[in-house]
Amino acid sequence: MAKFTATLVARHSDKLASVVAEGTDNGAQAIQWTNKGKPNQEWNLEATSAGYYVVRAIHSGKAPSVLGEGLQDGAEAVQRDYVNKLNQEANDKRQSREHVRNMRAFAKLESGVDSIELAEVAVPQIDDDELLVRVKAVGVGIHDSYFLPGDAKYPFPIGIEAAGVVEQVGSRVSGHRPGDRIAFVSSMQPKGGTWAEYAAVKAGSLIVPVPTGLDFVEAAAVPVAGNTVLRALKALEAVPAGGSLFIAGGSGAIGTLAIQVARTRGWRVGASASERNHDHMLSLGAEAVVDYHDPTWREQVRQWMPGGVDAVMAVQPHTSKDSLSVVRDGGKLITISGDVVAPERNVHVEVVPHETDVRGELTQLMMEVAQNEKRVEIERVYPFEEAQAALAKVQTRHARGKLVLRLE
Ligand SMILES: NC(=O)c1ccc[n+]([C@@H]2O[C@H](COP(=O)([O-])OP(=O)(O)OC[C@H]3O[C@@H](n4cnc5c(N)ncnc54)[C@H](OP(=O)(O)O)[C@@H]3O)[C@@H](O)[C@H]2O)c1
Repeated sequence: MAKFTATLVARHSDKLASVVAEGTDNGAQAIQWTNKGKPNQEWNLEATSAGYYVVRAIHSGKAPSVLGEGLQDGAEAVQRDYVNKLNQEANDKRQSREHVRNMRAFAKLESGVDSIELAEVAVPQIDDDELLVRVKAVGVGIHDSYFLPGDAKYPFPIGIEAAGVVEQVGSRVSGHRPGDRIAFVSSMQPKGGTWAEYAAVKAGSLIVPVPTGLDFVEAAAVPVAGNTVLRALKALEAVPAGGSLFIAGGSGAIGTLAIQVARTRGWRVGASASERNHDHMLSLGAEAVVDYHDPTWREQVRQWMPGGVDAVMAVQPHTSKDSLSVVRDGGKLITISGDVVAPERNVHVEVVPHETDVRGELTQLMMEVAQNEKRVEIERVYPFEEAQAALAKVQTRHARGKLVLRLE
């Protein structure tokens, strides 16, 4: 049984009295009290532990009144360590009262498993630098099944991208308020991700506002693909207006956005996909389309740009090596999937840079989507419960544009 002391400034009837209480942490009794202040009122102190600490003042002859509960509301302790302890316990208790509620999430239930299950898990409790977001829609990516932080806590809800409404903000968060509509890429963090009814998001994550009028489903399709496209194109900004870009994998989530953003920069765009997606890519602004199943596709690109294209964005894995031959001497190839290829003819080969901050550009892109200046291609919106089907589809690498989960 630990002994504690607490020094309080207790306000009663608009008058001030300082009181020193000493007791034990089982809370049964206060073994000593002193009234140091004015006026000369009789005080009895009782320290109790009813889950957390309560300090009561009993005014003689009257019912006990609580002066300090977690040492708030009418009592202010001067003994800081003790106060911090009380406040921490009171906060923990309040938070757990507020947040020990469950939610549905698609989660890995334990370390080392591949399977993802729909489970009831606790709503995450946020730290001071986090937001709690009520998730409305989730963007699905092939990475969702395998992105996992080393220090993941189980059950671990998967997913890194969503749109929703801020429900709560931590004490050190500025710039976001409850009620804000946001879309975001959550940092991979041990508490888990976005395939859930609620997600904890670090305030420093890539968060952009969802403009009024833009549906959460569309907004959820933008962050990961938009972030990737904008970072990749930033690495290609030396390509002048009128220059040419070939996109290997032009009909998926990244390709469909990349065609449009590249056109806005005044670049001429060629892209590859199966023939069934050619009209679609043309409608987004591509001027040359090839089918990667056709063994002559490189010659077709060379016919379009006889000297070779200024740059290639190789989206799909293993497309970098084949695409190298369509780049002009001294041109540039950006690999989105991290293909490793030996450069040739002074072609500069680069992996999409991860550290580039494109928050401003992504906010602008979201505005353009809201104003119908850019199209977000969504092949299908799945009810949350059918998330596994969405994951299976994206794993085929034949989704057109993005797949999105909708939560009610
Ligand atoms: N570095 C990053 O930050 C980052 C971020 C996000 C994603 N990624 C990577 O980007 C890739 C996913 O991109 P995404 O989301 O746009 O893909 P996606 O949505 O899976 O793309 C599917 C599209 O690609 C086409 N496609 C499939 N194989 C192809 C090939 N060999 N050549 C050309 N086109 C092909 C398909 O067209 P058809 O159906 O017509 O065949 C389909 O329309 C993943 O490898 C992922 O790891 C990287």
